[in-house]
Amino acid sequence: MKNTKSTLSGKFYSADIISLDQFDPVTLKKLFSLVPKMASIAKNAQPSKLLSGKIVTLLFYEPSSRTFASFAGAIKQLGGETIDILNPLQFSSVSKGENFEDTIRVFEAYCDAIIIRHPEIGTAKKAALIAASVPIINAGDGNGEHPTQALLDLYTIYEKYKKLDGLTGVMAGDPLNSRTIHSLIKGLSLYKNNTIYLLSPKELRLNRDDFNSYTEKGVKLIEIYSEKEIPKNANFWYWTRVQKERFKDKKTYEKVKDSFYLTSNLIKNFAGKDTILMDPLPRVGNIDMSVDQDPRALYLRNQIRNGMYVRMALLSLILNKK
Ligand code: CP
Repeated sequence: MKNTKSTLSGKFYSADIISLDQFDPVTLKKLFSLVPKMASIAKNAQPSKLLSGKIVTLLFYEPSSRTFASFAGAIKQLGGETIDILNPLQFSSVSKGENFEDTIRVFEAYCDAIIIRHPEIGTAKKAALIAASVPIINAGDGNGEHPTQALLDLYTIYEKYKKLDGLTGVMAGDPLNSRTIHSLIKGLSLYKNNTIYLLSPKELRLNRDDFNSYTEKGVKLIEIYSEKEIPKNANFWYWTRVQKERFKDKKTYEKVKDSFYLTSNLIKNFAGKDTILMDPLPRVGNIDMSVDQDPRALYLRNQIRNGMYVRMALLSLILNKK
């Protein structure tokens, strides 16, 4: 039977991963302690056998480069196999009208875990209630959450600062629609004395329910609408694209899409020598290519690599009893 407890409390085996709400600092510490080992497995020519005999379904109703490939790579690095269902609306019996419940039940019968991405908020949770015997991992549900992205983002910050408390960060772009921002705020709210400046056009600020629920958890959120208000020497900048696919009204998208563009000049004026530059990617009109050369830019370096290592650690804990 799978672990259906609402919080993990350090127990990953057979657990669904739906939200950062399930985590606490001890649980994150346990996960992060495995990441260096996973990095060395990935660098080794021989795959490990930690997931030998395990099959994981990647059921992606929305496009993905990083999440899909890093999960697939993670499973293969650990000796497991994948069933890859990209675009089920076209390439599975969903195209013939099969309902969501049946789809989940069918893949549940063929594998040891299902990793699901879906455009509707709450779908991973719904899948977890349907699948009684295998864990479900949320790879992004609409503009809800993206918990495994937050795990790798938190690890990337931890790798730099060796702590996750007492930090100041800037999250720019689309706080309203960015599921990666939602999960990362929840992750940082597990630790004391964190302050996050949310830089966006007014139209894209967090919805008030989310703002209130995050601040109740203890994280300090400061909403700013101009680059001039960026604090000097923050620990990290987390730049996100405006999420075109979430806009019903394309006129509004056109109005806000290029609001905050990260340039070397902005970095020179506001970042410190240790400020790390992150982006969950894809980059779409939000970071100038010249920024890539800056050694503080981690989005195509540590952040990307950590995606696979953290997912390896997570899967090894979920799919192995010991
Ligand atoms: N960061 C992220 O979720 O990227 P993909 O959409 O390419 O998976």
